[in-house]
Amino acid sequence: MAVNQCLLDQVAAGYASRFGAPPRHIVSAPGRVNLMGEHTDYNGGLVLPMAIDRAAWIALGPRADRKVRLHSLDFEETASFDLEDLRKGVASWVEYPKGVAWALQSSGLSLRGWDGVAKCDVPMGAGLSSSAAFELATARAFAAASGIEWDAPRMALLCQKAENQWVGVNCGVMDQMISAVGREGHAVLIDCRDLTTQAVAFPPGSVVVMDTATRRDLVDSAYNERRAQCEAAAAFFDVPALRDVEMSAFLTREKEMDPTVRRRARHVITENQRTLGAMEAMKRRDSAEVGRLMNQSHESLRDDFEVSTAQLNAMVDAARRMPGCFGARMTGAGFGGCAVALVRSDVVKAFVEGVSLNYKRGTGLAPKIYICQAANGASLATDESYRTYKTHAPPSNP
Ligand code: GLA
Repeated sequence: MAVNQCLLDQVAAGYASRFGAPPRHIVSAPGRVNLMGEHTDYNGGLVLPMAIDRAAWIALGPRADRKVRLHSLDFEETASFDLEDLRKGVASWVEYPKGVAWALQSSGLSLRGWDGVAKCDVPMGAGLSSSAAFELATARAFAAASGIEWDAPRMALLCQKAENQWVGVNCGVMDQMISAVGREGHAVLIDCRDLTTQAVAFPPGSVVVMDTATRRDLVDSAYNERRAQCEAAAAFFDVPALRDVEMSAFLTREKEMDPTVRRRARHVITENQRTLGAMEAMKRRDSAEVGRLMNQSHESLRDDFEVSTAQLNAMVDAARRMPGCFGARMTGAGFGGCAVALVRSDVVKAFVEGVSLNYKRGTGLAPKIYICQAANGASLATDESYRTYKTHAPPSNP
């Protein structure tokens, strides 16, 4: 795997200077961008995300006791907690590792304490799952320090539990799963009901993530409202989740439904179909078809699920106007954050410049644009990749 030597170096050097010894382990876990399958995960449905080449990194060394002391290079702050006595604190970055410790312990795993230094280059709050990346990196750190065998789907579920029950965000399982199981050069089809996965080699083209530079305060309440509407639709069809409703059954009874709930259900049912379609198209290396399905997904999220915004629509329009764009859609929960486009690789540089200019002209906002590569999920760096710190680090403290 192409290791981000820069972040690896920073956490390794940070650890050595703070704790006076080389780190025993270095772990990382990526953020993600979702290519297809939006708001389907909590309906037991299908998603097709990829892990991106931006990640949370932790350099660590085990401690003899059951304390965790973690320094964040992003916040320039050190926090600690005791695995014998985990308590929720005020909202801050340390609640993520603490919540992961709580979830792991509550599943019966026995954890050792460690000292660590963390840094993350997944943009925070942009909808690229920096929190899932931090959670999975922490889980990977606990597994390395405590000699726990790494079981990616199980760890993803425990990190989702931490996010739901400790941090208090009611997300589905997509972000944690892809951060755990991502594969270099591949998108991954995840069945969010049984957590089976299928890696699909990436078709020709570049993935461009376009941050609208807008965030909405009401994301959580709107997200929970959408979840409740989907549950109401499943109850209408008398099934456990919308995943179980076939298009034919929907078409037979849709006129009896509350109009809003009907539109929400139509999005989820058609989005599951598009997700399968996009996977099939990727297998055929048919980027034009993947793009066409991305465009349809955006329309459905905008009109039926109503989670897009004027800025997301402007970004998607700006992208589609550029030559070489196979397709574009909003990605993630919506209400601000990012859009994603699949673009012909030979014109991607001009695409980035053109979209920036057009979006700025249309909205007055300066976007951030990232060309992303599909990366591996949570991993433990090999000794080889930070050999220098093993051989040249200052001597350990007694
Ligand atoms: C957020 C949640 C995910 C998923 C998406 C929408 O990213 O964390 O679980 O529901 O929104 O697809």
